[in-house]
Amino acid sequence: TRVFVPRDSSALALGADALANAIAQEAARRGLAVELVRNGSRGLLWLEPLVEVQTADGRVGYGNVESSDVASLFDAGFLSGGQHERSVGIVDEIPYLKKQQRLTFARLGLTDPLSIDDYVAHEGLAGLKAALGMTAEAACETVLESGLRGRGGAAFPAGIKWRTVREAKAAQKYIVCNADEGDSGTFSDRLAMEGDPFALIEGMIIAGISTGATRGYIYVRSEYPHSIAMLNAAIGKARAAGWLGEHVLGSAHAFELEVAKGAGSYVCGEETALLESLEGKRGIVRAKPPVPALSGLFGQPTVVNNVITLATVPIIFARGAKFYRDFGMGRSRGTLPFQLAGNIKYGGLVELAFGVTLRELVDTYGGGTASGRPVRAVQVGGPLGTYLPESQWDIPVDYEAYAQVGAVVGHGGLVVHDDTSNLAELAEYAMHFCAVESCGKCTPCRIGSTRGVEVIARIRNGDTSEKQITLLRDLCDTMVSGSLCAMGGMTPYPVLSALDHFPEDFGLRPAAPK
Ligand code: NAI
Ligand code: SF4
Repeated sequence: TRVFVPRDSSALALGADALANAIAQEAARRGLAVELVRNGSRGLLWLEPLVEVQTADGRVGYGNVESSDVASLFDAGFLSGGQHERSVGIVDEIPYLKKQQRLTFARLGLTDPLSIDDYVAHEGLAGLKAALGMTAEAACETVLESGLRGRGGAAFPAGIKWRTVREAKAAQKYIVCNADEGDSGTFSDRLAMEGDPFALIEGMIIAGISTGATRGYIYVRSEYPHSIAMLNAAIGKARAAGWLGEHVLGSAHAFELEVAKGAGSYVCGEETALLESLEGKRGIVRAKPPVPALSGLFGQPTVVNNVITLATVPIIFARGAKFYRDFGMGRSRGTLPFQLAGNIKYGGLVELAFGVTLRELVDTYGGGTASGRPVRAVQVGGPLGTYLPESQWDIPVDYEAYAQVGAVVGHGGLVVHDDTSNLAELAEYAMHFCAVESCGKCTPCRIGSTRGVEVIARIRNGDTSEKQITLLRDLCDTMVSGSLCAMGGMTPYPVLSALDHFPEDFGLRPAAPK
């Protein structure tokens, strides 16, 4: 019998290794044959560790399993799907999962992340094989036609970036994967790296042969040791299987790939600071232009895409550009892996086409707050994203629709707050975060964030005069227009949204109902 026990960080943090051992030992004691598969997470994080058993009816799940449950699971006949107080039924039928549109995460949790056979049996490598049969120009056009935009947050069309690198003349070009997933409440990059690393590797090789780049680096934040280990192991297997080296799958294309450990700084997720760090220097932002597509790593043309962007590439090549672009709305094509976090009952990964609403994500999928109290605000797009009040929860999630109300979709992270939260305190924290993480290169961010903490503290201490509010708004204006990168440029987003939508938390008159 095949028994699945995830090896993703979230499951490991909840004792999955000890649990897997306990299952193996109990099976041996009872003389039962069990094939333990250490799969990736299914993304239903509230159920971790989620143990699954392969039965004739599908994979039967048991949620929040502890080592102390193992003997009773065997007694209940879980190896043939027997009922137990931890039973969650057929996992694919759980509505949270069943209603999703998993494209980037089609294999998440289904496979052994380090088994190439499993990967190939689940549509793996079909994209690379298709790309090898195309010209580089056609491959870049495929990405452009798919409508795929950078999933790190800025949503720049990936096909245009690839075309720019392809057309640039240089002896050496690079593919750099930004895996410095630093946004609070986000974990989709991690789930992808730990649950399906071959998809990222395949996507990077396709990017290489489409642009003429022969070297790739995956810059992974140092806080993700399991992702780093998983990628290194997967790259080793990919190399042994002939995916990498002088002749990718026996073709005339060469591609080499390695993992670099991040420097432990939020701003190293900004692409130019990341490149500096990758070159062995301090992670300080470079002025743009030139964009990295023209002058990136060691001054050479470089594709910098985040994990989700690159891990989405294989399915686009396997199924065609049209298949992918048929999902979504407006100029936001395809799907986005939303990450439900913060004060939420059912935290986890929800991949859906653009167009879903925040209310649906938080209520239908997330089940409301974990505290059981009403939701008050949702911060979308990481620590630099805005706080959305209830009046904005029915806007379809789409890059342009969000931009119209001054919000950002970003990397798809949602952090939920209940009615006990204080938005003025959160605004002060946003400025503090910027002050701590600022690289110091430009004044609006370096000095502005510290002054921002001081002004908000004064307001919170009772000086709600027009003078202080004007000072705060002027400071935010300066940071938005004068900062060199998104760190200082976007910190005002959470601050101003808190001030505009939740003025009562600053001791001001409540906003008029809209
Ligand atoms: P950006 O708008 O400056 O650039 C977007 C991308 O397009 C870059 O790779 C840039 O080099 C490229 N680009 C722009 N014009 C180009 C052209 N003409 N040709 C070729 N390439 C071109 O945005 P930036 O500063 O890279 O990212 C900001 C975003 O990062 C924010 O929206 C925020 O949501 C997100 N972010 C994500 C985090 C995470 O953990 N995923 C953390 C912090 C911020
Ligand atoms: Fe550095 Fe902040 Fe300026 Fe970005 S905005 S370059 S992080 S000082």
